[in-house]
Amino acid sequence: MTIEASDLGGENVKVEFEDGIAWVKLNRPDKRNAMSVGLAEDMIRVLDALEIDDRAGVVILTGEGEAFSAGMDLKDFFRATDGGSDIQRMRAYRSTRAWQWRLLMHYAKPTIAMVNGWCFGGAFTPLICCDLAIASEDAVFGLSEINWGVIPGGVVSKAISTLMNDRKAMYYVMTGEKFGGKMAEQLGLVNEAVPADKLRERTVEIARVLLEKNPTVLRQARMAYKYVREMTWEESAEYLTAKADQTTFVDPEKGREKGLSQFLDTKTYRPGHGVYKREE
Ligand code: ACO
Repeated sequence: MTIEASDLGGENVKVEFEDGIAWVKLNRPDKRNAMSVGLAEDMIRVLDALEIDDRAGVVILTGEGEAFSAGMDLKDFFRATDGGSDIQRMRAYRSTRAWQWRLLMHYAKPTIAMVNGWCFGGAFTPLICCDLAIASEDAVFGLSEINWGVIPGGVVSKAISTLMNDRKAMYYVMTGEKFGGKMAEQLGLVNEAVPADKLRERTVEIARVLLEKNPTVLRQARMAYKYVREMTWEESAEYLTAKADQTTFVDPEKGREKGLSQFLDTKTYRPGHGVYKREE
């Protein structure tokens, strides 16, 4: 059964499909897309559904309105769970963890964060857990927690330590100073920062490149990269050899065979010029 895009996201998330791209928009523009418990529950449902939806070849995560996300909702996440029972609090944290990193980190579809505006605090986690990120030069980032009397918790401190160098990360954790899109690029938080009027076009351009690739091999390559980060060299070598064999085995397109044959036998393809002829 095909689920209508409009039925997927509930109150807090908007989903749109466009030629293989699933646009997932945090949809609380009046609250600068601050992340409430309700938003977490909607995001879990959306990501679960899109992972097995053929209309979603690539998922682009962005924000409706002028913010990517103003971080954790200080009212509907922090204050709302402060007074509740320990069990309610645990459920709220579990939902947030589930989508912000557990689902996104090892998601079956390629993900791109498109940072269109404010990106504060807790928003760094989903930003970092997407495979790629493109920001508007005008976007404003901040590890503002210190100014609220809280630490970069959830899993923000861990997330930033995977991309930022220690001196830079500590500087922003300790000062809470804001920075723009170009600085986010220099810090390695995003792949590129582009002028606001080119943001969508550039993000779609990258999504289109990904959509041309063999989806099975792309998925396996992304997973392999993410898992080996935590392994020793010896473990990585063994795992990657096994993963490569598994990829060949599960690939319905038989991409390895096709690529080799097009290069060596028919001489119709050079890997330096893009993907092998997938339809052949
Ligand atoms: N939590 C809850 N509500 C928020 C949040 C938030 N993180 N951010 C914005 N809002 C709400 C405001 O309370 C306001 O609600 P109201 O209209 O009911 O009064 C609405 O969104 C609009 O906010 P403004 O401040 O009026 O919008 P403005 O465009 O002037 O500023 C900005 C946007 C800079 C993002 C500002 O709202 C802000 O500083 N937000 C907090 C950002 C932050 O530090 N987040 C980190 C939180 S800590 C953490 O994530 C762990």
